[in-house]
Formats: sequence, C-alpha cells, structure tokens
Amino acid sequence: MRILSVVGARPQFVKLAPIAAAVGAAGHDHVIVHTGQHYDPELSEVFFTGLGIPEPDERLGIGSGSHGVQTGAMLGALDPVLSRYVPDWVLVYGDTNSTIAGALSAVKLHLPIAHLEAGLRSFNRRMPEEHNRVLTDHTADLLLAPTPQAVTNLEREGLGERTVLVGDVMVDACLRARELALAFDAVEPPAPGIDPHAPYLVATIHRAENTDEPERLAAVVAALAALPVPVALLAHPRLRARAEEFGVELATGAISPGSPLPYAQMVAAVSGSAGVVTDSGGLQKEAYLLGRPCTTVRTETEWPETLADGWNMLAEVGDPAFARAATRPAPAMPPGAPFGDGRAAERVVKELERAAR
Ligand code: UD1
Repeated sequence: MRILSVVGARPQFVKLAPIAAAVGAAGHDHVIVHTGQHYDPELSEVFFTGLGIPEPDERLGIGSGSHGVQTGAMLGALDPVLSRYVPDWVLVYGDTNSTIAGALSAVKLHLPIAHLEAGLRSFNRRMPEEHNRVLTDHTADLLLAPTPQAVTNLEREGLGERTVLVGDVMVDACLRARELALAFDAVEPPAPGIDPHAPYLVATIHRAENTDEPERLAAVVAALAALPVPVALLAHPRLRARAEEFGVELATGAISPGSPLPYAQMVAAVSGSAGVVTDSGGLQKEAYLLGRPCTTVRTETEWPETLADGWNMLAEVGDPAFARAATRPAPAMPPGAPFGDGRAAERVVKELERAAR
C-alpha cells in the first residue's frame, strides 16, 4: 500500500513522526510531501532531524502568502505530484492551509483521502483553522478522530459512517519526547535570561486573532509583561514580524523572548515550568499530558477535554483574572487520559489497511 502524507507546518511534522515510524514498521510505501508552508529551519528542519523523520520525497517550496494565494499555490504544485505517485491514500494532518490544499487536490483527482485529527471544532468561524477543519472533514473518505468528542462532532454533521476513533498521535509523540527529555540537561534555560531552577512560565502566541491587530497584540504582550513570574516567550516568526511592524516591544517586564524550540526541548521546557500560557492547540494538550496548568489566550478551545478539573483555563487579557489564572498552581486532581494511550499511529495504519479500496 502506498500512503502519501501532505505536511507543511510545524504541528504537522510532530504528528508525522509517529505515523512515519508506524507506516515504515508495517512495510508500506510512504511518500512525504512538504508544501513549504513553514520554511524557517526552526519551524521545519529541526523537527525532521530531531524526531527522526525521513527526508521529504517532494518539497513544493510554497512559502508564505495570504490564505488564497498560499492555498492556491499549493494546489497548483500538488496536482502533478499526486498524479505521479497515485497513492492508495492521501493522508492530511490537522487544520492548516496545507491540510485543505492536500484534501482539495486529492478529491479532484479521485484519490482516497484520510484526515488525521478529524472532528475538532472551535465553532469560531472566524478562525482560518476552523474553515480548514470543516472543509477537510467533509471532503475526506476516512475520518481519523482523536477523541470521543471529535466523533460526536462528526456524527452531528452526518459524517459518522466515515469516522473511526483512533486516539491522538500527539500523545505518541509527546510521551516519546518526554522519555528523550529526561535524558536532556534539565538546567538548559528555555529562553535567554530565564533561570530554569526558579519558577517560570512558558508562553507562545501566534494566532492571527492575537497577532494581527496592533491593539490586540499590545494588550496580549502587556498582560504577559505584567505577570509576577518570569515568562519565556518562545516567539513564532509571525509574532516577531507583527511586533516589529506595530512597534510592540517583546522584551519588556516579565517577558524574556526566545526562539521556537525543537520538540524534545519544548517538552523539557514545559515539564520544568510552573505553567503554560498559549494560543496554540497542540501546546494546550502537551501541558495537559505533562501535568502543567495551562492558560489559553482565546475565547474557545477545540480541545475541551483539557478544561476538566481546571487543567486548562480560557482567559481574557486585560481581565484581572488573567494574572490569577496564569499563576495558579496545578490542580490537585491528576489529568485523565482522554487523548488515548500513545498507540494511535499503529491504529491509524490498521484503519488505512482495512479501509483501502
Ligand atoms: C500555521 C497554521 C496554524 C498553526 C501554525 C503552527 C494556517 C492557516 N495556520 O500558522 O494553524 O497553528 O501554522 O505554527 O495554516 N513565517 C515565517 N517563517 C516560516 C513560516 C511563516 O517567518 O517558516 C511567518 C511569515 O511572516 C508568515 C507568517 O509567519 O506570513 C504566517 O505563516 P503561515 O504559514 O501563514 O501561518 P502560521 O501563523 O505559521
């Protein structure tokens, strides 16, 4: 069986790692297509080398652009590649523009599509990721859902028959990285100027809703700067670019800006932290899996399971409750296991074998 994975952005490389290992172990042919949505080494190459992912077979080199320009360029580049490999499955991951491009190109070429991490919903139709999730799910032939809640969401949209619960491959990746992180020098500072022996928070902010309006970005940065604990702000290039454009200084108050970290170092940084402040979907879950309280700078989450027992809290910057939330201790109740057992990738491969036309 030939499986062709379309990936392009940082969280997709993390999900690809356990899939590539499981597809290889099962002896199937795996073609990896990198759209080039993320091209900075710290968002791309370090994940391939750090997670032992094979070199992509095809690099489309698309780069950044508005949603339409970026997605359209991917479509134009994907058509000949998919036509050449004629895979048994086109596997698309998560909710980025690379995901929707892979699904659209494949459906037009009558190639079977499987969507990994299907069924997530924020119900916020202003998020580009929400458009990508909904459209990809309705395009795909096989919906690989990470949680029972995702299955319910898909059933509500009439997609139950194409859906199968496999668990979350991020658990596979995170548990493996935690093993590696234990072997790491635990005293490595997560960002310059942060004392790793004293309490610190790990923060990431990169969503368009938080970065692309000058007033909103200034409010988010001011709220982080005012926290009474040092904040390692691991700045995505989008955040750095917008901050510079709008004249918002990141190195202010409690904030020590740093670069995005390779995956194992990120897991080590979160494990050593007092908590996480983020607008990333993946990091909310990693905090939960690693037993660190998370404060999410958004009005909703597509991972509602993390909210149980107060492990994750949605908080509005500018609200006095924000600082209380961000500095709260870990809940007494241990986190549950709503995301599966860390063997989701094996299940994905079995489902692809079972459902192959
Ligand atoms: C994308 C995904 C988002 C995911 C995130 C993970 C979409 C719609 N969004 O957001 O769901 O959480 O990846 O990081 O697909 N840039 C660089 N170097 C790079 C890539 C981007 O400097 O290697 C800068 C450029 O200024 C670019 C901006 O970041 O315009 C945004 O990049 P883009 O790929 O459009 O979206 P992300 O914000 O990374």
